[in-house]
Amino acid sequence: MGKRKLAVFASGSGSNFEAIAEGCRSGAIVDAEVVLCVCDRPGAKVLERAERFGVRSFVFSPKAYATKSDFEREIADLMDSLGVELVCLAGYMRIVGEELLGRYGGKIVNIHPALLPAFPGAHAIKDAFEYGVKVYGVTIHEVDATLDGGRIISQVAVPYEGGDIEELEAEIHKAEHKLYVETINKILA
Ligand code: GRF
Repeated sequence: MGKRKLAVFASGSGSNFEAIAEGCRSGAIVDAEVVLCVCDRPGAKVLERAERFGVRSFVFSPKAYATKSDFEREIADLMDSLGVELVCLAGYMRIVGEELLGRYGGKIVNIHPALLPAFPGAHAIKDAFEYGVKVYGVTIHEVDATLDGGRIISQVAVPYEGGDIEELEAEIHKAEHKLYVETINKILA
């Protein structure tokens, strides 16, 4: 049996992309490979990481398309042709639309840097920090039409009582990388 094929969607740095690609390379994610990096921001750092891992990228500017369905159709066609089985959103700063949900529904997961349902949205770490929580965390969930609202697959707590948000972010990212690798491996098993 061939390797299971993953697509990773990212908009920015791509440290989670790298953790997943490295997890496939090292065998921590068993019998899988990242065959596609989808990025909606030309010039994003994730693209350098994809190149380093020899992973094909599909980069696009959403503004160049009339509607979300137009670019999602192109992405889904490409994923069909590559035989993608699981789509991992990793800092993809966009709500997935009906075209992708219709064709890949149930096969799309997302990582969120908070213990959902607390602190949904794009600034979860800052929001939790400003709120003054003592236990932060990471959630991996199925993606549906809601913002950060799909069924929870896995979570891990990250206790932190310091006052340095950069240190906190580093702790949370470390927890993300570990949880994403473990969870993808379980999903595929
Ligand atoms: C992560 O914190 C992820 O949870 C959130 O966006 C961030 C992406 O970081 N959705 P990176 O691009 O993987 O480094």
